[in-house]
Amino acid sequence: MSERELFDVLLLFWFLLATVAFFVLLRTSAPYGRHVRSGWGPAIGVRTGWLFMEAPASLLFLTWFVAGGGAHSITLVVFFVMWQSHYLHRAFIYPLSLDRMGRDMPVVIVALGLAFNSVNSYINGRYLFTFSGGYGVDWMLDPRFVVGATVFATGYVLNRSADRTLREERARTGLRYCRIDTGMFRYVCCPNYLGELIIWIGWAIATWSLAGLSFAVWTAANLLPRGRTHLAWSRKHLADYPSEKKAVIPFLW
Ligand SMILES: NC(=O)c1ccc[n+]([C@@H]2O[C@H](COP(=O)([O-])OP(=O)(O)OC[C@H]3O[C@@H](n4cnc5c(N)ncnc54)[C@H](OP(=O)(O)O)[C@@H]3O)[C@@H](O)[C@H]2O)c1
Repeated sequence: MSERELFDVLLLFWFLLATVAFFVLLRTSAPYGRHVRSGWGPAIGVRTGWLFMEAPASLLFLTWFVAGGGAHSITLVVFFVMWQSHYLHRAFIYPLSLDRMGRDMPVVIVALGLAFNSVNSYINGRYLFTFSGGYGVDWMLDPRFVVGATVFATGYVLNRSADRTLREERARTGLRYCRIDTGMFRYVCCPNYLGELIIWIGWAIATWSLAGLSFAVWTAANLLPRGRTHLAWSRKHLADYPSEKKAVIPFLW
């Protein structure tokens, strides 16, 4: 079997696994952050955990870029920059913004995150830089790229600004968890998750690929259930939590 044939099987399996993950995560929340609980084995500091989980997404994507000769195509360089604009931040800057005293993260969660990012980087990087056959420079004028890149940028701004608001409100109120009702927090409990979902939907459109779509599907499978769990937790623990607020998608979910 050639690598390309194996890739297609892996991609199909990856979509199926995302579907399974969605239903599993609807029933049980991943034990990190406010949902951390005992019984998940040894744990490590939250900053180290995020670094180990996310660094492969940046480093392996670079490997696939170099291996596929991506530097020879300006469009592929743009895709590379889009990906790294997210993952250089997520892996090497975001962890430093986290509370050093935050709750430790189970090693098993770090391992699962690392495995996810490794496979996801392979699927997206190997497809874009090798199996896609390349994207001409004219792809950047194609409506799919223009719309996708705009959606990506919109999600990026929302994700970053919502994560920043969470940090700032924690510092301002001195509360570990507080009710936030400004900006998109008026409509949803987790605008950072909404931003993340929009980023990878934009990516799927801009790359117009099943590889890109698989990432958007995985993001939904991960974050839609987790957003619901956050919402239920917030309704229970935060005073006067607005009943009309949704978890991730305004008026819908
Ligand atoms: N693509 C994907 O599949 C994927 C998967 C997971 C995460 N992510 C992204 O990674 C980032 C972090 O994810 P996460 O699950 O850790 O997000 P999160 O649960 O919203 O937490 C983000 C940060 O804000 C703090 N926080 C949460 N709610 C708060 C509140 N009400 N008041 C004050 N502080 C609050 C958290 O503290 P605690 O940690 O102490 O709770 C954490 O430091 C997000 O941008 C997310 O989109 C992406």
